[in-house]
Amino acid sequence: MYSDRIKSLPPYPFAAIDRAKLAARKKGVDVIDLGVGDPDLPTPQIIIEALCNAAKDPQNHRYPSYEGKIEFRTAVSEWYKETFGVDLDPESEVLALIGSKEGIAHGPLAFLNPGNLALVPDPAYPVYKTAVEFAGGVPVILPLKRENGFLPDLDAITSDVARKARLIFLNYPNNPTGACADLGFFKKLVDFATDNNLIVLHDNPYSEVYFGDGRPPSILEVEGAREVAVEFHSLSKTCNMTGWRAGFVVGNEEIVQGIGNVKSNIDSGNFGAVQDAGIVALRRSREIAAGMRETYRERVELLYSGLKKIGLEVEKPEATFYLWAWTGGRSKEYTRKLIDKLGIVATPGVGFGDYGEGYVRFSVTQPTERIAEAVERMERMVAEERSL
Ligand SMILES: Cc1ncc(COP(=O)(O)O)c(C=O)c1O
Repeated sequence: MYSDRIKSLPPYPFAAIDRAKLAARKKGVDVIDLGVGDPDLPTPQIIIEALCNAAKDPQNHRYPSYEGKIEFRTAVSEWYKETFGVDLDPESEVLALIGSKEGIAHGPLAFLNPGNLALVPDPAYPVYKTAVEFAGGVPVILPLKRENGFLPDLDAITSDVARKARLIFLNYPNNPTGACADLGFFKKLVDFATDNNLIVLHDNPYSEVYFGDGRPPSILEVEGAREVAVEFHSLSKTCNMTGWRAGFVVGNEEIVQGIGNVKSNIDSGNFGAVQDAGIVALRRSREIAAGMRETYRERVELLYSGLKKIGLEVEKPEATFYLWAWTGGRSKEYTRKLIDKLGIVATPGVGFGDYGEGYVRFSVTQPTERIAEAVERMERMVAEERSL
């Protein structure tokens, strides 16, 4: 019944862990789920009220515009200017998306012909590789290794592959490793893309979830980036709005237009009321994100101490709400053990690609007291093992 495209999809990487989670719950275990990357914090009330008001506007009951309301796109361009100092033309360099995942998944259809190569990081958000394959492209894996700060080694890409590849996906601050890229790396990437005529699709939804002194940069801050790159962004993590599906892609006009062309043949834009509420979210994002960072910072500190105690090699993330821990063994076996022994769910690193093997991802998107409870369980286990 199914197409080769669907049949060739790898088995859902987290199915086994889902089954183990359900089984533990059935047995009455109080499971603490640190597996999902979905903020537990609620969307701020002011955004919800903006949605309720906008839902009453009959203009919003009709088909929205494909590219997004100009008011929404203008708010995005103002946000980029204020956040990163990047100037964008809201008419031609900003496109609304139904969550950034939608644009990421559709993007390659605009640029890849069957058999074209596309550079894809590993470990990574799985959609990059699937999107390339759905478009008939051939993913070329860029390993992200700890010794390189989880950045790809651009010098290791052969000139033949670099010249043949049409596009490159990257994501910093990075899911799942929590690593950041600086402007020096982005400059090198832009030069590499310019020399090889590559399209850069940079995914930046975690730019506001950072713990260091400065905000992680946008690739568009680099000179020349606008010639080769676009950046995906979203209100999902910035304003706790994953359910709202409010994202955008910005940057190079031709690339933005290409994605827009695909979209106008597939969807009819996102609900106007969500865009109106999105404008409020963008304008209030400073204070919303500042509060969110403080909450995650406390949780990261807490969980980090627990993970160290149970013997995992882990560093505090520079950004994102993930801790990426080295287990020294097989990631699926380790996550299985965590559920069985402690009732704690984490994501096996191998679910993000072969180079994630041996790692486990923990997400701090659970209430702080639940994370404290998880740490207590870890401490109890260590104390019991010592007393044996
Ligand atoms: C790296 C990365 N990109 C994109 C997304 C999708 O975000 P959105 O909710 O904007 O579709 C996620 C969500 O977890 C993510 O981790």
